[in-house]
Amino acid sequence: MQRGLGVCYYPEHWPEEIWPEDAARMVEAGLSWVRIGEFAWSRLEPAPDRLEFDWLDRAIKVLGRAGLKVVLGTPTATPPRWMIKRHPDMLAVDALGRQRGFGSRRHYCFSHRGYLDECRRIVTLLAKRYGQNPHIAAWQTDNEYGCHDTILSYSEAARDAFRDWLAQKYQSPDALNRAWGNVFWSMDYASFDEIDLPNLTVTEPNPAHVMDFRRFASEQVVAFNRAQVEIIRRHSHAPIAHNYMGRITEFDHYKVGADLDIASWDSYPLGFLSDRLEASAAHKAAFLRQGDPDFQAFHHDLYRAVGRGRWWVMEQQPGPVNWAPFNPAPLPGMVRFWTWEAFAHGAEAVCYFRWRQAPFAQEQMHAGLLRPDSAPAPGLAEAAAVARELPEAAEVASRPGDVALVFDYESAWAWETQPQGADFDYFRLVFEWYRALRHLGLNIDILPPDAIDLSAWQIVLMPGLFSLSPKLRAALATCPGTILLGPRSNSKTPGFAIPAQLPPDLPGLDARVTRVESLPPGARVALEGGGHFLHWAEDLETTAPVILRRADGQPAMVGDDRLAYLAGWPDAASLQELLRGLCAARGIETLHLPAALRTRESGQRRFWFNHGTEPIIWDGLTIPPAGVVWQTTT
Ligand code: GAL
Repeated sequence: MQRGLGVCYYPEHWPEEIWPEDAARMVEAGLSWVRIGEFAWSRLEPAPDRLEFDWLDRAIKVLGRAGLKVVLGTPTATPPRWMIKRHPDMLAVDALGRQRGFGSRRHYCFSHRGYLDECRRIVTLLAKRYGQNPHIAAWQTDNEYGCHDTILSYSEAARDAFRDWLAQKYQSPDALNRAWGNVFWSMDYASFDEIDLPNLTVTEPNPAHVMDFRRFASEQVVAFNRAQVEIIRRHSHAPIAHNYMGRITEFDHYKVGADLDIASWDSYPLGFLSDRLEASAAHKAAFLRQGDPDFQAFHHDLYRAVGRGRWWVMEQQPGPVNWAPFNPAPLPGMVRFWTWEAFAHGAEAVCYFRWRQAPFAQEQMHAGLLRPDSAPAPGLAEAAAVARELPEAAEVASRPGDVALVFDYESAWAWETQPQGADFDYFRLVFEWYRALRHLGLNIDILPPDAIDLSAWQIVLMPGLFSLSPKLRAALATCPGTILLGPRSNSKTPGFAIPAQLPPDLPGLDARVTRVESLPPGARVALEGGGHFLHWAEDLETTAPVILRRADGQPAMVGDDRLAYLAGWPDAASLQELLRGLCAARGIETLHLPAALRTRESGQRRFWFNHGTEPIIWDGLTIPPAGVVWQTTT
């Protein structure tokens, strides 16, 4: 498969006369994909059942005839105003019980049956009309499920659907009472109709209640997406994608991804550094115009897993964005750099958001490849530079990672439901492990929690995995590599109780967590030989070999080169050393990369990325600031 570049375009925003020139300029810049349509419902159906698809027919024709392949988005993230008149109760309700309003986007509740039927209707119309259109080469469902905090809705529609979901799952209120432990605080229910959503309680609701609500909410997204996919597949053979986001864990992306052909995500490195990352002020200052050196890579690897190998960047930041607290401009070179970074991780396509900066409405301060006056913005030349370089590395390539890291959405919900310490965040924990591996220069594969075949990896890491599925437990037993489980792993039953055996309850490892403590910022537990546990530390009762001790003599890590358990959250340097040790024991070569340098091997190439503002000389190579270079490997 060939790599390609693309752009997000909104023909409905511009006079029709300029479409041909826009299309010609896209092609001239070396772009081959154009994504359209995902917010266009009010122009496709300006009034109930009054359809106006002619303009879209013409837009697709103009773009297609210019030589572009079209990704057609379904417009369900932006129901028009008349829809709210028709279904006043389709709006989502927030945790404080306030109905969310019309006037931006994503104003719908996933559980509303009437809105789901409207979505089926519009998707059917689109799929029938364009399913065989030769220019439609891919589809996108909706837009960014979860953006603007839109997965959890506390509406009546959600409550009713949740009650049905619980009745199906538990069959009787008694079974539910037992599973949730409702004897506690007299929370027993006599019928499913008595169960409300877990908001507006006096103090915290039962965590088992919350976990089931989180599972339910995630399944609503899966079902909503599946309804669209089933319709599109009836009329089209083109692959179907959804555009996911950075650090959004409110629904199980693997489960949505299982119905799709391609995973894609929207990468805004400078926005993310500003508002989506725990990092020191010095770190944020050092990477202000380049973005965090690991955040994008983490998501590239995550979405490669969600897409079962096939993934894109559907929206790539082309210049300053508008939505973060501060919106700096990228260093010259970064747009090209981010694009190559995605390709190095196996992306099939990278599409920039957006073609021309819109001078009106909410995103008028968001850069495009063109300025509002249609002159080129700085991002355009960088996109064109990548297009010229592409033939040097045109084939999509990847190779299995050195190390696998499990990422699990349910664990994110579990530790949000019961953090026990304000700093215990699942994404943060897994991301710190990922960052440590990147410092060591390793290729990393991310795995879902129900991976059944671990035979491809020498090292498999599972920090904070709240409950081991029976499948994963079985896979542990046959994995030929070293498995390291991290703090809190397997510390809950799927029903959200402490397991009778006490965690981690691993086959062949005699160890029990007998007490845990969470630590406020600045507090730490010293490790023997230097370093610390931060945020979280556990007491272990064990007869297993001790690999690492705390300074007070307690075991900190136990096990052997087959299966080990780490009883705390190590600081970054200790984590890196510990992982380096695991690699050495398995004969995996590691590097000591400088803070701004990262590497990735892909197919026959090793890429080097300098995220810094000064040149880096590494192993005889000079890597310019905001620069990428690659070498051919054999
Ligand atoms: C994404 C979204 C786009 C646009 C962009 C701005 O979240 O999918 O429609 O809003 O952000 O950065």
